[in-house]
Amino acid sequence: MDSWINIIALLITTAITAILSSLLKNKSKSNNNNCYNRVVLPPGPKGLPILGNLHMLGDLPHQDLHKLSQKYGPIMHIRLGQVPTIVVSSPDAAELFLKTHDLKFASRPSLQASKYMSYKRKGLVFTEYGTYWREVRKLLSLELLTGAKIEMFKPIRREEVRGVVEVLKAAAGARKAVCVSEMVEKVLENITYRMVFGCKDDRFDFRPIVGESMELAGAFNIGDLVPFLAPFDIQGLVRRMKKVSKKFDEFLVKIIEEHVKDAKKQEGQARDFIDVMLSLMEEDSMKEVKFGKDNIKAIILDVLAAAMDTSVNVVNWAIPELLRHPKLMKRVQDELREVVGIDRMVEESDLPKLNYLNMVIKETMRLHPVGPLLLPHESIEDVKINGYFIPKKSRVLVNVWTIGRDPNAWSEDAEEFNPDRFMDVDIDIHGRDFQLIPFGSGRRKCPGMQLGLVVVQLILAQLLHCFNWELPNGMSPCDLDMKEKFALTLSRASHLNCIPSYRLSPPPPPLPTRRTSRDGGVDKRRAGLAAVFRTDGELVLQYKGASFDDVVDGDEALKRRRRSGWCRGGAWMQREAVVRDIRERLIREMNEYSNIRNIRVRNVECREHLRT
Ligand code: HEM
Repeated sequence: MDSWINIIALLITTAITAILSSLLKNKSKSNNNNCYNRVVLPPGPKGLPILGNLHMLGDLPHQDLHKLSQKYGPIMHIRLGQVPTIVVSSPDAAELFLKTHDLKFASRPSLQASKYMSYKRKGLVFTEYGTYWREVRKLLSLELLTGAKIEMFKPIRREEVRGVVEVLKAAAGARKAVCVSEMVEKVLENITYRMVFGCKDDRFDFRPIVGESMELAGAFNIGDLVPFLAPFDIQGLVRRMKKVSKKFDEFLVKIIEEHVKDAKKQEGQARDFIDVMLSLMEEDSMKEVKFGKDNIKAIILDVLAAAMDTSVNVVNWAIPELLRHPKLMKRVQDELREVVGIDRMVEESDLPKLNYLNMVIKETMRLHPVGPLLLPHESIEDVKINGYFIPKKSRVLVNVWTIGRDPNAWSEDAEEFNPDRFMDVDIDIHGRDFQLIPFGSGRRKCPGMQLGLVVVQLILAQLLHCFNWELPNGMSPCDLDMKEKFALTLSRASHLNCIPSYRLSPPPPPLPTRRTSRDGGVDKRRAGLAAVFRTDGELVLQYKGASFDDVVDGDEALKRRRRSGWCRGGAWMQREAVVRDIRERLIREMNEYSNIRNIRVRNVECREHLRT
């Protein structure tokens, strides 16, 4: 980024300085009428005439802003081209902008990215604050991201994560290195597709396009920052945006057409997210906001990008951090072994019990926030904060990357990866505690955080529980490249390749279905073992006719029966033999399959389900 900015700076500064200084003079004269020049802006570095401070930002702008904020303080003013920009870099300052004055900073700047890639700001992420934004946010929160909907998609997550475990098991068997990041991306893509479209769709490979769109949306685009240069598209970003948008559009048009056709065919059936939005197009109950196809496309794009490109980064940072800290890796895996056991995979019901894993996730998001500068906010009106004047339409960048490293909030070892800092400390990750706001806070905070967190927890827990991870070619964890790549989200610059080895106990051979003979008289038939089969950690004994008492507590049951005169003579003797036989079998099965934790006895005739 440095080189082209310097060239542009040189060319443009010499060519247009004269025009600009006269423009600026005129502007400052007119600004004297409002209080812009009479009040104190927050401190910040001096900028160049046209580019402002843009030339100070390189490939990792959050880090450059971090360095500047060390000098100019937690509320810093810079100019990005012509755009006054406030950089917020401490928990207290973040609280002022995202809580105390939340409403005044709840808008988003108008960007070429949202014009070209979000159907002229018809999505949610880059939409200005107002009625339309409120309606779309309500739609997402009520139709896709409610607790009940997230619960409904649980089987999809379970299936997809188990699918990737199978692929990794095969790689483990062959001692083959796999690209962990790609695996995680694929799982997330499948989960997201199935949630939004109701099925997977291999016709379009969305991932590279989402990556490209994130890069374009996160770029400091000269066309946005120096509007009179916009027509020249100096960085070639608009050209790329149009290409990306064309590809997205082709895909979405097809998907929507198919849904319209299917909806006619299958009236009354369960609807996916697109069906719900299509039905909104026809409703007139939403008087203020009308939804057309472009609105639907823009909203779907936001959801796809937000769901696919966020959680993956948390997992991709957590694993290398744990590889670099083997003792922490062992603690996570010990916890998993204790809570889940070594004979089965992780279920979502285990997640709340995985305290250390959750501390690892918090620590990962502290040091490697998915959105290092959140998404850009914009002030709706002039605001005074801490005695500083923040003009209307200022861009506000909250540097969460810096806040996560603030020694006042995190002590001197803030740069260390140390999940133990969360031990017995109640630091909330959902936007209440401003030293840790990876999802933002206030009106524009992430509406998908509950879903995002479940997905991160499940994938990470499963990968660490089912596998040990080793770096290929004798590489040491200290050699792991932890360089960052900045886009709208912060990813690792290089892929993570590892060799997995399977940790769980090998599954026992399947139990055959066995039948007892049916020719032993009435009692033998009644207590007959019809089938034995195994499910996850459970041995199911299926009897025909016999009650649970008859089988497991056979002696007592028989005595009772004898007292009641029901069993007599030879039949009684036979019955005792059958019960003994069943008990021996049970003990044998238990010894053979020591990982069985439950025995379920099912009486097929009475349809009773009894559990010991
Ligand atoms: C670990 C996963 C995730 C992280 C770390 C994350 C983080 C964020 C952040 C930092 C913001 C910007 C907040 C601000 O500007 O103040 C945001 C906004 C947003 N996120 Fe997420 N997100 C995650 C997952 C998701 C998921 C799964 C979805 C939806 C399916 C989603 C949908 C959105 C949307 C629509 C916005 C824009 C909200 C608005 O402007 O009103 N996110 N997210």
